[in-house]
Amino acid sequence: MSVTFTWLGHSAFLFDIDGRKLLVDPFLTDNPLAAMNADEIEAEAILVSHAHGDHVGDTVAIAERTGAVVVCNFEMGNWFLNQGVENVAQGNPGGTYDGGFFKAKWTIAHHSSSFPDGTYGGQPNGFIITAGGKKMYFAGDTALFMDMQQIGAVRLDVAFLPIGDLFTMGIDDSIQATKWLNPQHVVPMHFNTWPPITQDVVTWADRIHRETSASPVVFDPGGSFTL
Ligand code: NI
Ligand code: MN
Repeated sequence: MSVTFTWLGHSAFLFDIDGRKLLVDPFLTDNPLAAMNADEIEAEAILVSHAHGDHVGDTVAIAERTGAVVVCNFEMGNWFLNQGVENVAQGNPGGTYDGGFFKAKWTIAHHSSSFPDGTYGGQPNGFIITAGGKKMYFAGDTALFMDMQQIGAVRLDVAFLPIGDLFTMGIDDSIQATKWLNPQHVVPMHFNTWPPITQDVVTWADRIHRETSASPVVFDPGGSFTL
């Protein structure tokens, strides 16, 4: 069993789990760093962390074309159903969705969540994804929170953390998050997409090396890593 993930830019990732595809926060159209076109993506499931446009992105179009199940919280799921998405799996923090080739457990995130049209999107989430024998934590957009210690109590193979600051935690808090989560690998996201969230990822990776026991995984959009 193996898990390979590809960074599509911003917080969008495509997971290949023994040949089956799981997509997360597919913001591609209008994403200056997008590594793929929404039209060319195949996926069986799409996890969406919260309702902001830079996370919902192309979810509706991809779900309609591929028939992928959209996994999200209750309020977002109702919005997707109203948009014509047929296959929606709704949950909330503490719950786990079993997608067969993966499981996704909703976690809390400290952030906000409304759709670009103003519709309330419920509580924002992260996900603990179990697949291919690996445990992965996708933080979504969030501030640092102490429950990350509990999320890290299972041995995480990888954590995906925002580092862009301003709308989410920045570099300092991502270092503390990495200490609490204690994953084997840590992947930065939600930075450099636009000038307000510019970060020096080389400095970040150096600090991860020196201050935590995790290995930083840094690549350009389009880059892949196999666990
Ligand atoms: Ni957001
Ligand atoms: Mn965001």
